Amino acid sequence: MKIHPTIAGLRAALQGGGRIAFVPTMGNLHDGHASLMRQARAHGNCVVASLFVNRLQFGPNEDFDRYPRTFEADCATMEQAGVDHVFAPDEGELYPEPQRYFVLPDPAQADILEGEFRPGFFRGVATVVAKLFNIVQPQVALFGRKDYQQFMVVRNMVRELALPIDIVAGETVRDRDGLALSSRNAYLSASDRAEAPRLFRVLGEVRQAVLSGRRDYATVEAGAMDTLNAHGWRTQYVAVRKKLDLQLPAAHDSGLVVLAAGFLGNTRLIDNLEV
Ligand code: PAJ
Repeated sequence: MKIHPTIAGLRAALQGGGRIAFVPTMGNLHDGHASLMRQARAHGNCVVASLFVNRLQFGPNEDFDRYPRTFEADCATMEQAGVDHVFAPDEGELYPEPQRYFVLPDPAQADILEGEFRPGFFRGVATVVAKLFNIVQPQVALFGRKDYQQFMVVRNMVRELALPIDIVAGETVRDRDGLALSSRNAYLSASDRAEAPRLFRVLGEVRQAVLSGRRDYATVEAGAMDTLNAHGWRTQYVAVRKKLDLQLPAAHDSGLVVLAAGFLGNTRLIDNLEV
């Protein structure tokens, strides 16, 4: 496995390297990331991963400065997962001057749900992902369903900008108790860690309610938020949406996903479950 801190070094190493499968990350890797890297092998003969904590996608009161940076451990994880090339630029390499040109996703898809509570988040994600795509020039890129809206925004960006890249979704990797693996789980206190799997359980209850015929989504969503809030959560949303565009479903719509986000203590967790 080769580690490249510079764009020029990475580009030189990838020259004529064949079919590239790419997994962008912000590091602090866990098995959710590793599973994407292992799956990448099936999509290309050259697996590239990136490690870069992207300031552009963090709000002013978010955890950019304290986002966990664990480079040595991440390298071991990537080596183990079969990564061939790691792109690990510092900020000066990726943003040598302040970024003034952005990719602006459709507000109808990017200013809702995550975007409502994290203004500018998807502009920051779309911009860095487009930039990474231009640097790595992969044929395939893999994204986790854990960040369902991100996956959708990236997929739609690639389609509308006609980027010649296939976007592949990886299933959410969970702990034994159902909690979706996330770098932010490390922030949870022991008691919050014990409470955290409720998010996934509540998503399962909403899913069951929909499967059993409930179409009064607003009532079902409000009940789920009450349950979480009664257990110490500060829930931001529980939402039943159409999978394809995350818009509100009509009563006859199928192909749904339940998405949720909330704080436990100071830690913000998100999850989703397809119906
Ligand atoms: P990061 O949070 O590091 O996640 C990198 C990739 O791993 C994303 O595609 C994410 O959906 C996936 N992932 C995270 N947890 C997962 C889990 N439990 N199961 C499966 N996949 C999981 O997402 C980002 O970084 C950034 O926004 C990025 C796309 C790199 C742009 O900066």
